Amino acid sequence: MSAVDQQPLPARTQVGIVGAGPAGLLLGRMLELQGIETVVIEARTQEYVQKRVRAGLLEQGTVDLMIETGVGERLKREALPQRGLEFRFAGQRHRIPVTELTGGKRVNVYGQQEVVKDLVQARRESGAPLLFEAPVVEVAAIDTDAPVIRYRQGDEVRELRCDVVAGCDGFHGVARHAVPAGVMTERGCEYPYGWLGILADAPPSNDEIIYAWHERGMALHSMRSPEVSRLYIQCAPDEDLANWTDEQIWDELEARLSIDDDWTLNRGPIREKGVTGMRSFVLEPMQYGRLYLAGDAAHIVPPTGAKGLNLAAADVRTLAAALTTWFAGGDETLLDAYSATCLERIWRAQHNATWLTKLLHRSPDASDMDARLQLAELEYVCTSPAGRTMIAENYVGLDPVSWL
Ligand code: APR
Ligand code: PHB
Repeated sequence: MSAVDQQPLPARTQVGIVGAGPAGLLLGRMLELQGIETVVIEARTQEYVQKRVRAGLLEQGTVDLMIETGVGERLKREALPQRGLEFRFAGQRHRIPVTELTGGKRVNVYGQQEVVKDLVQARRESGAPLLFEAPVVEVAAIDTDAPVIRYRQGDEVRELRCDVVAGCDGFHGVARHAVPAGVMTERGCEYPYGWLGILADAPPSNDEIIYAWHERGMALHSMRSPEVSRLYIQCAPDEDLANWTDEQIWDELEARLSIDDDWTLNRGPIREKGVTGMRSFVLEPMQYGRLYLAGDAAHIVPPTGAKGLNLAAADVRTLAAALTTWFAGGDETLLDAYSATCLERIWRAQHNATWLTKLLHRSPDASDMDARLQLAELEYVCTSPAGRTMIAENYVGLDPVSWL
């Protein structure tokens, strides 16, 4: 269905949501259940957002949120629970028993595009407004009590008046550009490496996720189902995929993941491949006037540890609770605390993702000394009870805030 075929949207709503990624769709779902009107406007096609392959590790809080909002049925059947993770370096494997070290917590493998599919389907079923192929060109009047979203539908630019705008439009979105210069502080960096990721029709070679340090660069073994593996190797940030045959990718994965025992890497046809750069980015505060930013629009963590989607879910959980209280009786306390509440978790995740990234990747200018220090640190954190607990605690994430 193209934008021109879709029904025109109402001219006003309570919460205008820019972007139908996990942040925008989850926020819409929670607010809908609280009886608050929302409109979700997305630049891309439905097919594109549902097919975009990204990370797929859900903290328990994210899983619970899907279940609490009535979109967790397929997830309950298909998610692959992870009770531990494995580090590999110097030919050895080191398992971190996450569940044992965190009083019973675990994480779950379920692809981000599956989360998006489940949420789009629920919104289609409820009939709540969701418009694809309608790029938002501008968010304006955010310092008034009637902010406006201007979006393109076919050849026309239309307006949606809102009480509040939620900018859930990712790192390349437009919502945050509505904020006057000097209000928000942006911090971040780019890393001198990227990930070459593949999705392959090959049964996972291990039940748990594996993070490997290797002198040729990091490798990561993950999965999507009992038949599908998801794997990554560290590469240049602008790596040209044309330089890699499928066989070379498998050979490189095998070289970096292999250990001294007889473990083997299952190979199979590669269905998808892509290169992603890596950055850290945090915007503070995440709110100005009636505009609230959530998810990748306000922060990016490097993908090591797979916290991006979980942070997006935690943001919108906090925002949904605050908006529900405010719409119910005008109490602004939770809304005023939105940014600070979210940023505590964001900085924890940002630190952990950065630490894990720097520990596992080889910088192009790294010396032998640097490599030896990484190995010494890995050896320490994987064997010390304190180190193992720290890894496990960060892997499962902080406890979620309540939104109900
Ligand atoms: N108008 C409308 N929609 C837009 C615009 C625009 N001008 N710009 C961007 N978008 C849409 C994008 O097409 C995308 O579908 O906003 C959506 C943002 O979704 P995500 O990038 O998935 O971000 P978010 O919902 O915050 O989810 C965070 O995504 O990048 C991963 O690792 C990250 O898992 C994390 C998750
Ligand atoms: C994934 O399954 O895509 C994944 C898992 C763990 C990570 C990153 C990505 O740290």
